[in-house]
Amino acid sequence: MKNDNFRRFWGKLNKTLGRRFSFTLAFLILVTIFLWSWEDKPLAKSLTSPEEQFVRHTSEILIDDSVASSVLMEPREHRSVENSDSEEAKDTIEEHGIDDADNVIGNLTAIPTNRGEACNYARGTWVTDNRQILYSGSGCKQWLSEMWACRLTQRTDFSYEGYRWQPENCDMPEFEGSKFLEKMRGKILSFVGDSLGRQQFQSLMCMITGGLDNPEVEDVGYSYGLGIPPGAVRPNGWAYLFPITNTTILYYWSASLCGIEPINATDPDTEYAMHLDRPPGFLQTFIDQFNVVVLNTGHHWNRGKVNANRWVMYVNGKPLHDRKLAQIGNAKNLTVHSIARWLDSQIPMHPDLKVFFRTISPRHFFHGEWNSGGSCDNTIPLTRGSEVRQHESSDPVIAEAVKGTKVSLLDITALSELRDEGHISHYSIKASEGINDCLHWCLPGIPDTWNEILCAQL
Ligand SMILES: *[C@@H]1O[C@H](CO)[C@@H](O)[C@H](O)[C@H]1NC(C)=O
Ligand SMILES: *[C@@H]1O[C@H](CO)[C@@H](O)[C@H](O)[C@H]1NC(C)=O
Ligand SMILES: *[C@@H]1O[C@H](CO)[C@@H](O)[C@H](O)[C@H]1NC(C)=O
Ligand SMILES: *[C@@H]1O[C@H](CO)[C@@H](O)[C@H](O)[C@H]1NC(C)=O
Repeated sequence: MKNDNFRRFWGKLNKTLGRRFSFTLAFLILVTIFLWSWEDKPLAKSLTSPEEQFVRHTSEILIDDSVASSVLMEPREHRSVENSDSEEAKDTIEEHGIDDADNVIGNLTAIPTNRGEACNYARGTWVTDNRQILYSGSGCKQWLSEMWACRLTQRTDFSYEGYRWQPENCDMPEFEGSKFLEKMRGKILSFVGDSLGRQQFQSLMCMITGGLDNPEVEDVGYSYGLGIPPGAVRPNGWAYLFPITNTTILYYWSASLCGIEPINATDPDTEYAMHLDRPPGFLQTFIDQFNVVVLNTGHHWNRGKVNANRWVMYVNGKPLHDRKLAQIGNAKNLTVHSIARWLDSQIPMHPDLKVFFRTISPRHFFHGEWNSGGSCDNTIPLTRGSEVRQHESSDPVIAEAVKGTKVSLLDITALSELRDEGHISHYSIKASEGINDCLHWCLPGIPDTWNEILCAQL
């Protein structure tokens, strides 16, 4: 039956087109079919060299992944000049979680592992970065404190600006202010912590705006009760609204992450109850409104600062008499665990809420402490190495506190440890003698990387 049909069709074709043309047409169809099957046969692959397969697979992966393909399509001048093409391909593979490039050939199933949640952003390498910096340290005057803008000081070496963090097994999306605002549309991100948290806040404001003046951004501090408290020199926080996406970024000063209350509100010389087991009142009041909270604490947990602030430790609403618990390390541990547990208990009531506990920012005082002539004069980047390979955090107290909770760790300690040259050091605007700041960082600088990791984890 089929043969009959074919013969009838062939006859008709010959009649209408002529015999020679019909043969030509049949030949062309056969060649096409052969070429199609050639494409599909493994034989085709064995005829291309392993290198070609390698490149082909790599580019297939890239096409499948919008983030990675934007890396591939980045303008040349934004990539490190030290990277040859083959190294660039290897970098790309490493971003996808493959240590051994040979694995890629013929095994694409391995590609999607180690992404998203599974990625440990704390492990990786500082690599040279010839991309344009996210904002200029001579600009961003709207948000960047002069004391942290090293470009405004007598410092002349800015090589610390020329590196980016490459996590070991995952993508590090390039930060784009507009994309970030879009992701945060209608949301509120709140930094709560000490001056290192304030640095991270200023860094993020500069990153979002590219350091350019942005008159549209509204100061909305009053909506959160932020302003200069009576008798204080500095506001207790700042809040800014980006009307374009209705996104608020704010910072609240809480050096200890404890609830702090005057013991006698009518006494100007009052001591303050430092409730180790209570979150700051600010967080209790506004947690319902926040979508992202980034906590940090650490450098105010020493006897000198506790006494200078006239803080008196309280637990369960009563003065703490347990001497062991009142030791600074134990008190800090109690507070850090309390606030992590409290925020964990809030998350089920606010399914949109994401909480990050940033690990401690390392100090680099050499040959003494901050008050005994310690300094950090090195300006050469990465003399302490460029890689973090450890699996555990260098801040076990915070890491332990978030374990088993829905609070995420923003683990920046080990990677920042390698960047002793990125501190303010002895430079200042007025060249004042004898001040060494080996605690705070130059901006732009290391806290920008913390924000890049924060955005990657968001
Ligand atoms: C591909 O890689 C995955 C993950 O490493 C491994 O489990 C799997 O056995 C590999 N498959 C082949 C065919 O080699
Ligand atoms: C802006 O965002 C806030 C909270 O993030 C929300 O309460 C408010 O309704 C939003 N406003 C508009 C105009 O969408
Ligand atoms: C609180 O301080 C005021 C002013 O110093 C003082 O008069 C008052 O007695 C104090 N109250 C208590 C309970 O100590
Ligand atoms: C910190 O506090 C937690 C919870 O109270 C406790 O389990 C842990 O042993 C403490 N760690 C240290 C080092 O004291």
